[in-house]
Amino acid sequence: MSDDRRNERPRTLVRRMPLTEGVSRPVVTPIQPSVVYASPSIDMLHAQYEGREKGYTYAREGHPNATLLAEKIDAMEGASGGIVTGSGMAAVTAALMGVLGAGDHVIGGSQLYGRSLRLMHQDLTRFGIATSLADPTDAEAFRAALRPETKMILIEVVSNPTLRVADMEGIAAVAREAGVLLAVDNTFTTPRGWRPFEHGADIVIHSITKLLAGHSDVTLGYVAARDPAIAKAIYDFSVTVGFTPSPYECWLAERGLYTFPLRYDRAEENAAALADHLAAHPKVARVLYPGRADHPDAARAEALLGARTGNMVSFEIRGDGKAANRMVEAAPQLPFAPTLGDVGTTLSHPASSSHRALTPEARAALGISDGFFRVSVGIEDIALLKSDFDQALAAV
Ligand SMILES: Cc1ncc(COP(=O)(O)O)c(C=O)c1O
Repeated sequence: MSDDRRNERPRTLVRRMPLTEGVSRPVVTPIQPSVVYASPSIDMLHAQYEGREKGYTYAREGHPNATLLAEKIDAMEGASGGIVTGSGMAAVTAALMGVLGAGDHVIGGSQLYGRSLRLMHQDLTRFGIATSLADPTDAEAFRAALRPETKMILIEVVSNPTLRVADMEGIAAVAREAGVLLAVDNTFTTPRGWRPFEHGADIVIHSITKLLAGHSDVTLGYVAARDPAIAKAIYDFSVTVGFTPSPYECWLAERGLYTFPLRYDRAEENAAALADHLAAHPKVARVLYPGRADHPDAARAEALLGARTGNMVSFEIRGDGKAANRMVEAAPQLPFAPTLGDVGTTLSHPASSSHRALTPEARAALGISDGFFRVSVGIEDIALLKSDFDQALAAV
């Protein structure tokens, strides 16, 4: 082999060529892992940055798999210009820190997701952003917490883990009258349950990790804002701090979305049936499911969610922490795992996981005893699910 040919080899190897094209096309979305995009000229790069031409430049600023996923969730939420982030918490953080600054005040629902609460109390405060919490079932508590410097309210529609239903219409009215931004974390409810932009929300957030992706194999978030200037502030912050999602995970989540309506409807149907089954069980002291007449917010759930009462069920056994432990051990086929929204049913025990940092008294005030469980109901055969829970409860 001549020296010339040997020298040519590496260059051939690194020359990137487009995949061979033909008259057919793939039916599956391609994954585009490129970190960087070549523009045809300097003039064209100017045109891209100035929005006169479409085109990607650098993946931290955006890539096709994230755009496609964001557009699909936009369509579900009735939004436009939403972005995908590397986790649900990245979306919550971008919504708060991209918009708020030192001297501002934010009011959160008192039963927000644990890390959202921590972000508000321990991180925002370090940057001079003041935080208060208010009971989401009481809109007047939000009015009472307003200050002249209040800029945002952050709320979840259905609380974790006691599944209380927020007074969304009342809180939206308080936000509107006070000229305060209303941010809604719609992870539990999903756009199939409630669409916050249709009810006065300014910002919508998701942990895609949960029901939207649905298979416990990606960690992603989504955030969209009604006002393009707010959306740009959130996007710029997210790009600066590097909340960018991986194209591979976006691709998986997009695949998950195709079955989301089917999964959600089936899981919801199962949840309603399992809630009734548990309520009739002698070892169960109480069941919390927004679709049941005995739920403390049943009337509001009916008005707000109609039949879309979701896949989450909580219940309390007639027993203490030891009995709860025996219950978990007795049914290993029900994964004891602190997540939600998987195709399979998972069981979580807030006193030992999400709420373990609280004192027993503080937990009791929230209605979380050592015998309290939260179930994320999956799409299994309901007869199988009932028998799994009967097997677990027999150990109580
Ligand atoms: C309501 C809610 N918001 C946000 C998050 C955070 O999402 P992620 O785990 O994708 O960061 C979670 C996680 O459980 C959640 O339940």
